[in-house]
Amino acid sequence: MTNVSDTTHEPVKTTNYLRSMKMFYAITIAFAAFIAIAAQPMKKKWKPEELRDAKIEFGRQMFFDKALSNPDGQSCTVCHAPKTSFSDPNHAVVSEGMVDGAFVNRNSQSLAYVSYIPPRTWSKEENLWKGGFFWDGRSNTLAHQLSGPFFNPAEMNNTDTLMLIEELKKAPYFNMYKNIYGKLKDPTEAYNNMCESIVMFESSETFNEFSSKYDLMLAGKVQFNENEKLGMQLFQGKAGCVKCHSMDPDPVNGKVLFTNYGYYNIGVPRNGNNPFYSTFESINPKGKSAIDLGLGGVLNDPEQNGKFRVPTLRNVQYTGPYFHNGFATTLREAVHFMNTSNNGEFGDPEIRQNVARQLVGSQHMSPDEEDAIVAFLLTLTDGWEETEGE
Ligand code: HEC
Ligand code: HEC
Repeated sequence: MTNVSDTTHEPVKTTNYLRSMKMFYAITIAFAAFIAIAAQPMKKKWKPEELRDAKIEFGRQMFFDKALSNPDGQSCTVCHAPKTSFSDPNHAVVSEGMVDGAFVNRNSQSLAYVSYIPPRTWSKEENLWKGGFFWDGRSNTLAHQLSGPFFNPAEMNNTDTLMLIEELKKAPYFNMYKNIYGKLKDPTEAYNNMCESIVMFESSETFNEFSSKYDLMLAGKVQFNENEKLGMQLFQGKAGCVKCHSMDPDPVNGKVLFTNYGYYNIGVPRNGNNPFYSTFESINPKGKSAIDLGLGGVLNDPEQNGKFRVPTLRNVQYTGPYFHNGFATTLREAVHFMNTSNNGEFGDPEIRQNVARQLVGSQHMSPDEEDAIVAFLLTLTDGWEETEGE
């Protein structure tokens, strides 16, 4: 048995010891925290809506950043500029990549309303492939799509994720990354985070205005003139455009997006002016004899050869030249093609199989009726109030 005085003495000693240990730990922890804070800003605590806005802003910075290409000089906006509904501001047949003389094979797509495009699926009822990104549907999500431009030698030309991440680390807005996602550790994780923010920007209001004269007309705020009304009637009636450029509200969001996202061969001829035919052999090994199979090339299915995804016609005023290879220079020409192409006046289709002749190409419209369709298509341009006023 220990005596009372001994036992009462012991704890005092322990307390002293514990105190000094606590102090030691406290100092160590404080020191470690100091090092951690000095080394990197802490991941911020966000409210959900603030986090969303922060990611959109981070995505916007990257979308406009010309230093994320190799060498510096090309951002998404070089081929997807806001003033042309996020298509090529120079209206080139196909856009030039970061390396002089490097061309992709297809016309830059408008990115407005791109986030509404569903993944590619086979519709049994309609006997039709629908959805998916790019003209030929080779990507199934917007995030996956990004591996195209960042690493394509005919676009931003980065060799790999590591190179891209090094460029991000040098960006003046890099602290936004750290505030949102914390310390940049793993390059693959960092790349996925970049993609997330860019996709959030592409899905934001900036890309989805629904502010055209057509939208204001639907809301009862303005009226179409006679020509625009006639154009819309033709579009839905005799011209048959709605069979593919659907005016049924989208089942998901209730909006009219002027596409059923289906794939068709509408018989667009080869475009001899496409600089892709004379770009580097490493990009186009087949030279002038290259043939664009569209969806058929992706699926390795001849029945899909020559088929391309129906584009939205919103903001079509700005997205010329038209079709996947920029074959039609003006909107009037594209509409005339849709009206009469089956009579052969534009030459042979690049792919003669699978042409949707029953659906389009013999619409028997007069020149005035074609003009009316153009007038209607011009009502699909966003920002109508600001540009036209009334
Ligand atoms: C050199 C020009 C160029 C650059 C730079 C570029 N793109 Fe593109 N983009 C294109 C072309 C051309 C297509 C269509 C390609 C095809 O269908 O084969 C396209 C297609 C897309 C699509 C698919 C749209 C749809 O309707 O399916 C998205 C999304 C896209 N680009 C986003 C981006 C983003 C984001 C960046 C920047 C990281 C970027 N692009 C950089 C030329 C470019
Ligand atoms: C059979 C389905 C179908 C019908 C019907 C149809 N289109 Fe299209 N349209 C498409 C496809 C597919 C494309 C893209 C083709 C390509 O690039 O090869 C397209 C492209 C266009 C383009 C070019 C858009 C761009 O951004 O390049 C315009 C303009 C257009 N169509 C207007 C019309 C009009 C006007 C009508 C009615 C006279 C019409 N279309 C009927 C399927 C159709």
